[in-house]
Amino acid sequence: MESGTWRFLLSFIPILLYLFHILYSEYVSPKPTTSGCSLLPHHHYWIVSKRIVTPHEIISGAVEINGGSIISLVKEKDWREKVKNGPVIDYGEAVVMPGLIDVHAHLDDPGRAEWEGFPSGTKAAAAGGITTLIDMPLNSFPSTISKETLQLKIDAAKGRIFVNVGFWGGLVPENAYNTSILENLLNAGVLGLKSFMCPSGINDFPMTDASHIKEGLSVLAKYKRPLLVHAEKQQEIELKDGDDDPRSYSTYLKTRPSSWEEAAIRELLTVTKDTRIGGPAEGAHLHIVHLSDSSSSLELIKEAKSNGDSLTVETCPHYLAFSAEEIPDGDTRFKCAPPIRDAPNRQKLWEALMDGDIDMLSSDHSPSEPELKLFAEGDFLRAWGGISSLQFVLPVTWSYGLKYGVTLEKFVSWWSEKPAKLASQDLKGSIEIGKHADIVVWEPEKEFDLDENHTVHLKHPSISAYMGSRLTGKVVATFVNGNLVFEDGKHAPDACGTTILA
Ligand SMILES: *[C@@H]1O[C@H](CO)[C@@H](O)[C@H](O)[C@H]1NC(C)=O
Ligand SMILES: *[C@@H]1O[C@H](CO)[C@@H](O)[C@H](O)[C@H]1NC(C)=O
Ligand SMILES: [Zn+2]
Repeated sequence: MESGTWRFLLSFIPILLYLFHILYSEYVSPKPTTSGCSLLPHHHYWIVSKRIVTPHEIISGAVEINGGSIISLVKEKDWREKVKNGPVIDYGEAVVMPGLIDVHAHLDDPGRAEWEGFPSGTKAAAAGGITTLIDMPLNSFPSTISKETLQLKIDAAKGRIFVNVGFWGGLVPENAYNTSILENLLNAGVLGLKSFMCPSGINDFPMTDASHIKEGLSVLAKYKRPLLVHAEKQQEIELKDGDDDPRSYSTYLKTRPSSWEEAAIRELLTVTKDTRIGGPAEGAHLHIVHLSDSSSSLELIKEAKSNGDSLTVETCPHYLAFSAEEIPDGDTRFKCAPPIRDAPNRQKLWEALMDGDIDMLSSDHSPSEPELKLFAEGDFLRAWGGISSLQFVLPVTWSYGLKYGVTLEKFVSWWSEKPAKLASQDLKGSIEIGKHADIVVWEPEKEFDLDENHTVHLKHPSISAYMGSRLTGKVVATFVNGNLVFEDGKHAPDACGTTILA
């Protein structure tokens, strides 16, 4: 052959090497995921976007993921160079953000799985951009108040969760003064404890008072884990004539006035002092769940924080989205405790959230069977209380927050960073090198109707007060531990979320 022909053939060698390299990296090293944990056949890949929300700035570039963790962040001008031929998923203008961490959800499994259950609840969470949720110790049966009852939850979750799930344990009178029960429960892995200052509505979850809470805090101090408290305390109420129509929302509202929240918080603050530096429960932390009252209760919380109490507070999307004036007679989908209050109260909740006086958000997803929720022709006094929302909290927070100036940074703080801190999840809650690859990709400008044509993965879509609304902010994809668990309306076939034990 002539030398020109040789040169011609030799020129193919780099191309052949290149093809070999691609085949090798795709099919030989690392092994493609053969399980059904992910909709993506790669362990090592790059997510590319023009809007990646990192702790200090929103960047345009790539997030490199390998083995379930974020291993590098690359800014735009050099991402093509750095990424070379690696698998890239380019989401364009869609926002790439840490997945939501919902510190307050009731999945009711085991024991009342007909209300929700781990499979439907965590599929809905994945479809809504939630990558980790912490399950509440009540509404399942039995309540999670001992090492043995926690084990029932862990067993029920095995192979049935599409996102990561951790557990709160219950602080109840039965275990509050029994340190060995509490320590066994904490040693078995609950991330903290939860208690009620009013009847919980669940027989095997009785209420606690400040002395139980003081005991609980002293045990939690050693573990550096939080106590979450439902802060409403029953007070005398005076109903006038005409306040007795059970189909009227205002009747229900009058049965749980804001003074109940205020009284509970006032009592709580007599013991949160213990959490101050140098106090008898230093290391413990108290978190007030689902604050609805944005006046006196919030003032008390602000004051305690400024005095050095280790204290945080959450509110929920339904208090930010709805107001009492708008709730139709007989529409018991809106019943929850504490109740949704008036529009001026909602305005002040938003201001407190924007100012950082309310630290974070949670869903308080608390469904039941439609028969319990919608029964008795709209009787607000007898219907089950609890809002069903798990799949919708991202677009709801965004849609209703737009007029108050919500930003992506604030959103990440309320839904990822602060919740990660509360649940002691140091490797979650932000897009940073070394953190878990728990990521949501979504389109903040996209509107959609939550109607019959929107696929809802919750067990009972009809009980959700959000059905029928038009929302802004559509989830495109959700990654959990580096697995693409949801994209374009489709879930990965297998439930590969992990249980998080402390
Ligand atoms: C704590 O509970 C355990 C298990 O129920 C029981 O055996 C023990 O006697 C209790 N301890 C106290 C101090 O009540
Ligand atoms: C749902 O989709 C069907 C078929 O495209 C359409 O006929 C119907 O009007 C849609 N429903 C709503 C509420 O938009
Ligand atoms: Zn709850």
